[in-house]
Amino acid sequence: MISLRALPLLLLLLVTTALPGLAAPPDLEARIDALLGKMTLEEKLGQLQQLDGDADGTYRAEHPGMIQAGTLGSTLNVRGARRTNELQRIAMEKSRLKIPFLFAFDVIHGYRTIFPVPLGEASSWDPRAAELSARIAACEASAAGVRWTFAPMVDIARDPRWGRIVEGAGEDPYLGSVLAAARVRGFQGKDLSAPDAVAACAKHWVAYGAAMAGRDYNSTDVSERTLREIYFPPFQAALRAGCATVMSAFNDLNGVPTSGNPWTLTDVLRREWKWDGVVVSDYTAVAELIPHGLAADGAEAAAYALLAGVDVEMVSRLMAAHIPKLVKWGLVNEPAVDEAVRRVLRLKMRLGLFERPYTDESREASMILAKDHLTAARVIAGRSMVLLRNEGGVLPLSPERSVAVIGALADDPKAPLGSWIGDGRSEDTVTLLRGLREGTTARVTHAAGWDREGQVTPASLAQALEVARQAETVVIVAGEHQDMSGEASSRSSLDLPGDQARAIRSLKALGRPTVLVLMNGRPLTLGSLADEMPAILEIWYPGTEAGHALADVLFGQVNPSAKLPVTWPRNVGQIPLFYNQRNTGRPPGAEKYTSKYLDVPVTPQWPFGHGLSYTTFVLSDLRLSSATMDESETLTVTARVRNTGKRAGDEIVQLYLRDVAASVTRPVRELKGFQRVSLKPGEEKTVRFEIGREQLQFLDRSLKPVVEPGQFRVWVGQSSEGGLEGSFVVD
Ligand code: NOJ
Repeated sequence: MISLRALPLLLLLLVTTALPGLAAPPDLEARIDALLGKMTLEEKLGQLQQLDGDADGTYRAEHPGMIQAGTLGSTLNVRGARRTNELQRIAMEKSRLKIPFLFAFDVIHGYRTIFPVPLGEASSWDPRAAELSARIAACEASAAGVRWTFAPMVDIARDPRWGRIVEGAGEDPYLGSVLAAARVRGFQGKDLSAPDAVAACAKHWVAYGAAMAGRDYNSTDVSERTLREIYFPPFQAALRAGCATVMSAFNDLNGVPTSGNPWTLTDVLRREWKWDGVVVSDYTAVAELIPHGLAADGAEAAAYALLAGVDVEMVSRLMAAHIPKLVKWGLVNEPAVDEAVRRVLRLKMRLGLFERPYTDESREASMILAKDHLTAARVIAGRSMVLLRNEGGVLPLSPERSVAVIGALADDPKAPLGSWIGDGRSEDTVTLLRGLREGTTARVTHAAGWDREGQVTPASLAQALEVARQAETVVIVAGEHQDMSGEASSRSSLDLPGDQARAIRSLKALGRPTVLVLMNGRPLTLGSLADEMPAILEIWYPGTEAGHALADVLFGQVNPSAKLPVTWPRNVGQIPLFYNQRNTGRPPGAEKYTSKYLDVPVTPQWPFGHGLSYTTFVLSDLRLSSATMDESETLTVTARVRNTGKRAGDEIVQLYLRDVAASVTRPVRELKGFQRVSLKPGEEKTVRFEIGREQLQFLDRSLKPVVEPGQFRVWVGQSSEGGLEGSFVVD
């Protein structure tokens, strides 16, 4: 049995066994200046050029020559200790200035040991879990020569039609910020120059998740207030945690594409936030300034990007091609190029690459899929599974009763890895079916019922019904295969793909205790199934250890504790639907002329923060240390939480605030804190939250942080709905 207690232990193990880091390189800026002084313009632009390798990790024929000539500074996708050392040797032995090369890769939720997709991991509401998975990913990736990952993706997503909602932490800026910082700490470790540290990249700067109509790459139109209140905070949290790089996004923001936007790239990042890291453009985003309609040609695109604040151009080659002539004509000043190069050299120095350019080739084999990594992947996957519904205690399943597992995804080794699988491989996956077979002594049978697209034939359904009829319990695995969410995977319908819903109803009609397991990358609109199915477990894409983690949860070895990091809509017409909305002048009510729909309730299917357990918790005794406070004081909120059921379990207790009347209208609720509380049956504990200036403040009409006097409402609850309610006055 996997103990939840294993998690902090594993974290401790990784932190204490991390290789000792090098001291920060001395006189960093002086060294950069000295090097810069020796570089030709072509070599400078070389440091700003990043090119793609092949998906399998090999480099392209042109790379060695470019590295030798100093016209290439980094690649993405090239990986493997031996292969990266091969290229590094060219940089260190054959290039004129011996500037080390840097290998980047999308290590999003694991390198070879794949963890739950970020939206799943965010459901754990557990920053330690997020830090640990990123640390393990960094250990594996760095052993394969990769020292820069394009993660964490910290885009807030309020629209589940957008396929990339799966890559982030959901809809909330506070939860998103906590997890962004944790992931950065995990990737980068305590010391970026340690050989097992990987530079993180907060992406996609900015508001990429606000794509209109949820259509990927679409334009965004977002007020500065919403940018600063909703979309900026997770980036700021990542940078405060030391995040070394940022990726400029694909989207047009209020008429200026983000990869050519001096306000976001320079005014906010550099001047306001005083950040000196590297900005890398997203893939060909510099060239895309032309179809956006900002730049008329390649030269304009290069100038827009560089002068706005892009340092490294990913894949397109417009800066290298055009900046020399723009400098010659006096349209771009060489010091602007120098600034970008300076940042790249600073990153390479901070990574310790000048002192230690090569990867120890003996580490890779033992690091990849290490036993501890798989254990962590299993524990974190179990922590990410959200029990949405459990009527009549269908779950956990008895290990003595035979189980029919129905659904094509149950036996699919690729789907559980989700989108962005790093170097993850299907052959490493514990499929859901295998995990369930290993998790019980009872008979486990399987029928696909439908194909991976959800298409049902009369024969496939008949076979599934027959298999289900022979079993005492039925576990249906439904959802989206891995390519249905992620980049360029927007959907206009959020229904279960194909005929899965109809087939599920037929299976349920057999009358067996039936569990619906959902594997997908976004909330799905379930229609009446949401009320008809006695038990529904959302497992997202759980990663390499998917099957083991599912068995842990279904058979009760692990008591679910995850909570939704997104609001779950009833139908697609409700979107965008998020909990921290404003009240309107006519909040929804029985009256006709209030803000609502004629054909669907205004409430979600399940609220942000919702998630059940096999035990029950009762909150009581909300106390505020004072009925009034001023902005220099701290108010303490306490409540008691009691496990009233028969199993040990964890509850994630959430703190929400509402500023009742302010010079700018405030959301009906905002998450301001949360705590995981572990309780034995019958046990009771007190949770305590502090409220101070940080929790009370908002941006006034001129976008300056302010705390205004007046009444605040406070809730301590188990989701963003209901909870114990109190109020206090700021005077
Ligand atoms: C495009 C994606 O938008 C970005 O997230 C990713 O890091 C790059 N491609 C590199 O693969």
